[in-house]
Amino acid sequence: MNVNDQARHGSLVDVYVNVVPLKLIETLNATIDETRHDWKPTDGRRESVMAQSFAELLRENAAFHAIETQVCAAAQLWATTVLKREVSDDPLHVLRCVDPRADSQSYLRHFDSHILTMLVPLQLAPNGERNGDLVMRIFQREAKSATANFLTKTYLFFEHGLPFLIRRSLATRDLSNANSQRIVCRPGNVYVFNGLITLHHNLDVGVGERRMLIIHHYDAGLTAGARTVIRSFRILLDRLAGIY
Ligand SMILES: [Fe+2]
Repeated sequence: MNVNDQARHGSLVDVYVNVVPLKLIETLNATIDETRHDWKPTDGRRESVMAQSFAELLRENAAFHAIETQVCAAAQLWATTVLKREVSDDPLHVLRCVDPRADSQSYLRHFDSHILTMLVPLQLAPNGERNGDLVMRIFQREAKSATANFLTKTYLFFEHGLPFLIRRSLATRDLSNANSQRIVCRPGNVYVFNGLITLHHNLDVGVGERRMLIIHHYDAGLTAGARTVIRSFRILLDRLAGIY
């Protein structure tokens, strides 16, 4: 699979079509089915051995392996030319399985800490307004300093604390003003984007369950300060609430 096989959603996300065999996707879903009822908490996110093992299985597929190698090389080049820094790779693997119980996982607009994000859809929720689709803001930010990143992350942290209906309203306004684009995913395809400069979130899921394997490459190293402050603030909130 090379770059000519891609379809594009503008320059926001590169789509590699028919990469992952549907038989393999069936196998991965069957593995999830066997354990899903045991997942606690039930927010549907897993940074887990399972996610990593799924990625390893995908890498046994020559087409997927070639694409990952290609996009990693491009991301590394972007880091040295745009960010002016060397980045090392320690991939983060996340399995995200979201159903109607996981409102808290939706409309969370954010930038990734990593330069490169690969999405591998495993299962979609039934089509409709609330099917968990990925939504990306059309206007990408410039790669900024750690200070600018800290301020943005801090604002978004407080936005994430807003009630669901307000978060949804903020995100939906951008979509209806055509400032954001809804990315329709399909199992078998691989979706690749730069989450460090592209604000994005997911819609909620009204019916069924949406499953995605997410692979992040190249932490840009801009978020250490923001993480520390946000973690301290969470601890303070927990103490005030008498939880800690
Ligand atoms: Fe993200």
